[in-house]
Amino acid sequence: MKQVVEILANRAELIERSLSIVLSQIAAAIAERGQCTIALAGGSTPEPLYRAIAARDLDWDKIHVFWGDERYVDPEHPDSNQKMARLAWLDRVNIPASNIHPMPTGAADPAADASTHQTELQQFFQISDGEFPAFDIILLGIGDDAHTASLFPHTAALQVEDALITVGNKDGQPRITFTVPLINRARCVIFIIAGASKKPALAQIFAPAADAMTYPARLIKPEGELWWLLDAAAGEELKQQTA
Ligand code: 6PG
Repeated sequence: MKQVVEILANRAELIERSLSIVLSQIAAAIAERGQCTIALAGGSTPEPLYRAIAARDLDWDKIHVFWGDERYVDPEHPDSNQKMARLAWLDRVNIPASNIHPMPTGAADPAADASTHQTELQQFFQISDGEFPAFDIILLGIGDDAHTASLFPHTAALQVEDALITVGNKDGQPRITFTVPLINRARCVIFIIAGASKKPALAQIFAPAADAMTYPARLIKPEGELWWLLDAAAGEELKQQTA
C-alpha cells in the first residue's frame, strides 16, 4: 500500500486536488482495463467534487458508478447519497443508466437489500462467493467519530469479513455499506476530508496506536493506493507525507 497525505490550504483547493487525482485514476483505469469502476462517498464534503466531475468531458460509457454506502431511505429522500450524486453529477452527464449501480433500499429489509446488492456486484464483476473485486477508485469521508462509509464505531459491520456488502448501523438507523475487506481490495482509496470537526478523529486515525473498533477508519488499508486529502482546517496538525 502506497499512502499519501496532502494538506490543502482550503476547501476549494481540496476539491481541485481531489478532482485532479480522480480524473487521473479514471484515465488510468480506462487505459489499462477499458473501464473504470468508482464507488462514491456520501455526506456533504464530496458534493462540489461531483459537480466538478460533471463539468468534464469524459468517456461516460466506460465509467461505472457505485456507492460505498447508503442511508436506508428512498432514493428521492433528501438524505439519500444516491440523490445527492444524481443532482450534483449523474443527471448532468450522458452516462448510460446501466452504468449507475445504486444500493437498493426498497425491500423494507436492509439485510435483504444488502444481499441483493452483493449479488449485483458479483454479477457485474463475474465473481463467486468468497471472491472480492478490486474497485478502481473508492471515495470515502470520515465522520467526527472516525466512521467511514457506514462502518460505525463498535458495530457488527466492522467485523464482517466474508461479504462484500453488509448492514451498517448509525444510532439504530440502518445503512447499507461496503465491508472493510471490499474497501481494502481497492486499487485506489481516496479520503476527502474537510473541517476542524474532523481533527480529533484524524488524530486518533493517525496515532501510532488506537482502537480500530473505536476509530473504524483505521481499518482502511487498501492493497493499492491510499490518499488522504485534507483541508488545513482538518489536517493542520498532521504532516504531509508520501510513504
Ligand atoms: C454518509 C457517508 C459518510 C460520510 C461521513 C462524512 O453516508 O454519510 O458516506 O461516511 O463520508 O459521514 O460526511 P461529511 O462529508 O458530510 O462530513
